Amino acid sequence: MVSYRALFGTMVPLALALLLIGSTEAQLEYGFYKNSCPHAEFIVFQEMTKIIANAPFLTGPFLRMQYHDCFVNGCDASLLLNSTNNNPAEKDAPPNQSLRGFDAIDDIKAKLEMACPGIVSCADILAMIARDSVKLTYGPYYAIETGRRDGSRSEASDTQANLQPPTSNITVLKNIFIQKGLTAKDLAVLTGAHTIGQSLCSSFTERLYNFTGRGFGLDPALDPTYVPQLMCECKPNDNTTRVEMDPGSSRNFDLAYYKGVSRGRGLFTSDDQLLHDPETKAYVERQAMAWPEEFFKDFAESMVKMGRIEVLTHGKGEIRKKCAFVN
Ligand SMILES: *[C@@H]1O[C@H](CO)[C@@H](O)[C@H](O)[C@H]1NC(C)=O
Ligand SMILES: *[C@@H]1O[C@H](CO)[C@@H](O)[C@H](O)[C@H]1NC(C)=O
Ligand SMILES: *[C@@H]1O[C@H](CO)[C@@H](O)[C@H](O)[C@H]1NC(C)=O
Ligand SMILES: *[C@@H]1O[C@H](CO)[C@@H](O)[C@H](O)[C@H]1NC(C)=O
Ligand SMILES: *[C@@H]1O[C@H](CO)[C@@H](O)[C@H](O)[C@H]1NC(C)=O
Repeated sequence: MVSYRALFGTMVPLALALLLIGSTEAQLEYGFYKNSCPHAEFIVFQEMTKIIANAPFLTGPFLRMQYHDCFVNGCDASLLLNSTNNNPAEKDAPPNQSLRGFDAIDDIKAKLEMACPGIVSCADILAMIARDSVKLTYGPYYAIETGRRDGSRSEASDTQANLQPPTSNITVLKNIFIQKGLTAKDLAVLTGAHTIGQSLCSSFTERLYNFTGRGFGLDPALDPTYVPQLMCECKPNDNTTRVEMDPGSSRNFDLAYYKGVSRGRGLFTSDDQLLHDPETKAYVERQAMAWPEEFFKDFAESMVKMGRIEVLTHGKGEIRKKCAFVN
């Protein structure tokens, strides 16, 4: 059991560092709930500690969720809304296959509703569980801005243009980040999230068995000494098996991902593509040799930036009672 003070005590220096970076729009705030629901972040962390103890594999999906939410119509928890009869929601679009744990979010929300009814948004819960997933895999505990409100639109078709598949090249990846107000550096940093969690075989098996697009061929960018292991784990057309994205270290938020990518062991084409742009390549190669402090600081900064994408604040949107449904 981590005490409130121990947890938040470690956070202060980073919070100060982030405040200095600042935001001219100042729409979100650090500690938005300090008066209205002072223990909100602690309640979430407590629940997360229990959830992850029972289901450690959820840290990857929980970290990924904020990206899937923010990139599609902003950080408004549209990802959490259920489909309705005539409208398939974002949650039911193909990229959702890398996500799990929606019911655990419902439990967290229920705890918050008991403590402070109608106060804490589902969009902020996504920011908190992403941050806590990093902490619970031995990464940094960074301060997050809160004060987002929840949206009402969620359409599966919106995901296509906003979430690039793992087969994407660096040009496409950089463009989508720039469209969202993020940079090539943010891309290199946030892709570092692949240091935890698993992937379905179907997200990369074309690199093993169909690189030519004509039913055969192996991606020469893959480390040949890593290929047999991947082929053993993932047969062609396997769409159910999951493998570690950062083998041997997928429950540790660390720099092993960058070491892997620099040696041709990035699982996805999109990982390998980081080596095809001078700025992202330099970042990967530096982190592959570094101590984690710089990456930890960069990751916190990029997550805070991503968490500002098209947010609803100041009376726009609503505070959902249940994350899967509009009020
Ligand atoms: C909402 O969607 C989740 C899966 O994301 C599902 O488990 C749940 O049963 C759905 N709720 C209702 C009432 O349909
Ligand atoms: C993802 O979408 C499919 C439909 O495309 C649905 O059957 C499945 O339950 C969804 N998965 C989750 C985790 O919501
Ligand atoms: C990157 O992918 C896009 C979309 O598939 C394609 O149009 C473009 O030619 C590709 N760029 C390079 C350099 O391969
Ligand atoms: C190989 O890739 C091409 C292009 O993406 C696709 O059309 C084809 O169905 C794939 N073949 C197999 C056997 O998966
Ligand atoms: C997974 O593969 C099986 C067998 O190849 C196929 O029947 C099924 O539709 C696939 N599922 C998805 C979600 O692609």
